[in-house]
Amino acid sequence: MSGCGLRARAFAALSHKGGISTPPKLSALNPLTLYARGVQQVRTRAGSRTKFLLEESELPRHWYNIRSDMPTALQPVLHPGTGQPVGPDDLAPLFPMELIGQEVSEEAEIAIPEEVLEIYSLWRPTPLYRAWRLEAAIGTRSRIFYKYEGVSPPGSHKPNTAVPQAFYNKKEGRTRLATETGAGQWGSALSFACKLIGLECKVYMVRVSYEQKPARRSMIKAWGAEIVPSPSEQTQSGRAILSEHPDSPGSLGIAISEAVEDAAGRDDTAYSLGSVLNHVLLHQTVIGQEAFAQMELAGAFPDVVIGCVGGGSNFAGLAFPFVREKIAGREIDVLACEPAACPTLTRGLFAYDFGDTGKLTPLVPMHTLGHDFVPAPIHAGGLRYHGVAPLISQLVRDGLIRAEAYTQNDVFASAVLFAGSEGILPAPEAAHAIHGTLQVAKAADEAGEERTILFNLSGHGHFDMAAYDNYFAGKLEDVALDEDEMERALRAIEGLPTPA
Ligand SMILES: Cc1ncc(COP(=O)(O)O)c(C=O)c1O
Repeated sequence: MSGCGLRARAFAALSHKGGISTPPKLSALNPLTLYARGVQQVRTRAGSRTKFLLEESELPRHWYNIRSDMPTALQPVLHPGTGQPVGPDDLAPLFPMELIGQEVSEEAEIAIPEEVLEIYSLWRPTPLYRAWRLEAAIGTRSRIFYKYEGVSPPGSHKPNTAVPQAFYNKKEGRTRLATETGAGQWGSALSFACKLIGLECKVYMVRVSYEQKPARRSMIKAWGAEIVPSPSEQTQSGRAILSEHPDSPGSLGIAISEAVEDAAGRDDTAYSLGSVLNHVLLHQTVIGQEAFAQMELAGAFPDVVIGCVGGGSNFAGLAFPFVREKIAGREIDVLACEPAACPTLTRGLFAYDFGDTGKLTPLVPMHTLGHDFVPAPIHAGGLRYHGVAPLISQLVRDGLIRAEAYTQNDVFASAVLFAGSEGILPAPEAAHAIHGTLQVAKAADEAGEERTILFNLSGHGHFDMAAYDNYFAGKLEDVALDEDEMERALRAIEGLPTPA
């Protein structure tokens, strides 16, 4: 993509909306034309608008690949047996070739298949909001915008990648997908995508979330998938954990081992991951491309971009098109928000580590807390992962992204403040981004400065009400990872190759 490709597209979106600046003449003064004229007049006043919407025809046609612009190349993923970079053949038992190609691609843009665009159009483009009421509630001088991904059928950003993953697998002849899920958002998204595209789906759901979120289980079943709590008795990895820790709350690392084992053992089945991998982050860039055009509609450009980070996909999806501008010289503060109970970016090591607890995946260069680290059972289940996407890890190393960690009572207080002003009840994961936004706005106010802040509201919290109940009852524990436990967990990566 050319130097100004994204901006050009944002402008193309604007000029396509030529009606905004030069409304066509309306003839008769019947009620409908009066309404239409009113709509056009309101649309000209970007300064007072709340929602910035794009047409279906303005859906991005490509995913944006940040690898083409990164100042430092990614280090290779290694085969744990040989220590050599993995090749397509190593990955073929788990993924379709098209996704393997995307995983290693350095092309700036990858075309989104028409069939995927058709399904995206069920909920995309998603709205961008100006948070007028939140700004008033906290009395900030800053302008706050948020991109809302909770309008998708499963309620989060996750189907942005679930749909293309299901599509490519079906195209290459797989009939079944196996996956893990933390809070249940990813499991819901993949079961939704498999249902629409016509694949079977098996979901290993982290036990603590399986118990905390029964409604997510039902949603996954409603879309026809099979679901079991992880660790389960159905795989060797699950049985090994249960024999040592019969009460294990589970973790994403354990559930990934189970799903990988399931997929590796059956020809008809591929593995599908909801975050971390390059192709997953790539698919999520529809979020940031739309937001880029919508900020143009609002007549604004963010000087702070914020998202929560589990494996990193929603954060990357919003942030990467803006990080690209930062690489090109624009000043933007890009902030990743994580839980203090699982502080991968703020306290983890940049190292080669396994993506799962059972050591079935290749070695990935990333910030990690160690593959056998089991985070405390905080309510933001989707952020309980020991690693972070290599793309984000490298950009943190290069100083293009910074990170902060928060404890859960503070995060829930911000979620309730947000719900009370903007109305939307956020997922506990997304509430980390809200909390980060409030910290940035507060610091700016204290310094007598004004910021334009854009954050990703990655999902709604309608299936997380037990977490809110616990918060209101004062039952949430503020867990910050203990230094001794961190040292213990990091011992698991001793002896593994070290990145350059
Ligand atoms: C609503 C929501 N936001 C964020 C996340 C974190 O995942 P990622 O960092 O890949 O966006 C999850 C994961 O389950 C989620 O459900």
